[in-house]
Amino acid sequence: MKETFYITTPIYYPSGKFHIGTAYTTVLADSLKKLHQLKGEDAYLLTGTDEHGQKIQQVAEKNGKEPQVYVDEMAAIAKELWKTMEIEYDDFIQTTQVRHEKVVQKVFERLLAQGDIYKGTYEGMYCVPCKTYFTETQLVDGKCPDCGRDVVKMEEEAYFFNMKKYADRLIAYYEDHPDFIKPNYRKTEMINNFIKPGLEDLCVTRTTFDWGIPVLSDPKHVVYVWLDALLNYITALGYDSEDDTLFQKYWPANIQIVGKDIARFHLIYWPIFLMALDLPLPKTIFVHNWIMMKDGKMSKSKGNVIYPETLINRYGLDAVRYFLLREMPVSQDGIFSPEAFIERYNFDLCNDLSNLLNRTVSMVNKYFGGKVPANQTHANAIDEAFETETQEYIIEFEKKIENFEIADSLKEIWQLIARTNKYIDETAPWQLAKEEETEKLASSMYHLIESLRKIAILISPFMKDTAKNIFRQIGITDLKLQMWETLQTNIALENTQVIAQGEPIFMRRKAEEEIEYLKNMMKN
Ligand code: MSP
Repeated sequence: MKETFYITTPIYYPSGKFHIGTAYTTVLADSLKKLHQLKGEDAYLLTGTDEHGQKIQQVAEKNGKEPQVYVDEMAAIAKELWKTMEIEYDDFIQTTQVRHEKVVQKVFERLLAQGDIYKGTYEGMYCVPCKTYFTETQLVDGKCPDCGRDVVKMEEEAYFFNMKKYADRLIAYYEDHPDFIKPNYRKTEMINNFIKPGLEDLCVTRTTFDWGIPVLSDPKHVVYVWLDALLNYITALGYDSEDDTLFQKYWPANIQIVGKDIARFHLIYWPIFLMALDLPLPKTIFVHNWIMMKDGKMSKSKGNVIYPETLINRYGLDAVRYFLLREMPVSQDGIFSPEAFIERYNFDLCNDLSNLLNRTVSMVNKYFGGKVPANQTHANAIDEAFETETQEYIIEFEKKIENFEIADSLKEIWQLIARTNKYIDETAPWQLAKEEETEKLASSMYHLIESLRKIAILISPFMKDTAKNIFRQIGITDLKLQMWETLQTNIALENTQVIAQGEPIFMRRKAEEEIEYLKNMMKN
């Protein structure tokens, strides 16, 4: 039986436009799915939209639409973008779907019946025009953070989830499961900032608006959006429904990917809800940082937003996927700037990767009529060193990706690319040709093609089309030779024919022109 691998992204607030920051999680999740498939595992990816709550109701009204019509349109826009970005999700959940709502209602009743949820009084600062409660800390100069008007102290009947009861169990779980939270410093953050100071019970219903899932036994209350939304990860698999085959197969999730702003909900509330439901917890929750602009957060008012479509239309999808994954460090935010984007494009993709492919294809054509010479393992000391170092880069790549050091894992692949370029200089094939050192020349060509084959395998989860293009140009048509397990050994490549005329996969751009172009696009 194939091993299963369940990956989730957060479900997005349906606002219609995704900037490149919001696309980061999904590109990462999709890449991990493809990586696990490459390893022969049965990988399943869930994404979707988070469609309830007062804000969404208000935006729909502003647009003169019924909320359901509005969220359906927004979900369609999200799906369109994921199609453009070649995100191969297996399911797209909308929290307004009956399959989700029904289970959330059942779960609520169960938690109520077992005493984890109880009825109490909610007290807070309320903005009447915005119909929203705020905590003291959310207020800006004592006023509503949304409209700037005065707020009043109000109270109402509400249901609460007994978080306190689970605090010790949660800390013990963190300690016993070192892989549960990645990177590790997020765990310390949760314990020191939220759990140790004392977990408050969480208000899990609202009565000030009705765009939510009604509580079955008390329908003037709707379920708090986070309790509703977090459950999507299991309702999508059919948990507590007539058909829970997927749930049985895939739960607990292997990786749940979330951005840092929603870490608290996923690292504290979510595991506690699962404990209350007596369900196993996900194996790993990976928290990533944000893609920022040089002047801070992306925002329309600052005129610094960049949309994925803008970049994809001009530079191709793989350049965008590469940039996003490569520019996000583990311990701080990644920065998008037109300069950095063009530099990565011109150097990493054109100079390093595209040129390596081009030079190799043209040399195999020139010296061997396009036919790749047969396996020449360890033909001499230079080749032996190159083979050993190639395997070291692959091992490092694996270590880093397993530890969710995504940018660093890509860096390992680019180090292998640089090492392969260096191998051309070391072997100087033009010299070998002149000196008629046919065996050494054959070995050099064999090793270059073999290295490109491995590079294409390594990049394929991140940049599928580029990998396919490389395989096509170097004549690796056998799908078996594109699989992960063939990275470990050198493959005999006889009967492999490269294409007659190499095609550049990335074309060098004039940096100033492109920077200007991108700056203009960011203003619009
Ligand atoms: N609806 C909630 C999630 C509920 S999950 C049960 C939500 N939605 S969101 O649309 O606001 O954000 C979706 C994801 O995008 C979050 O993980 C968030 O951290 C991420 N990002 C938003 N802006 C981002 C960047 N600038 N950079 C990287 N990720 C960013 O939160």
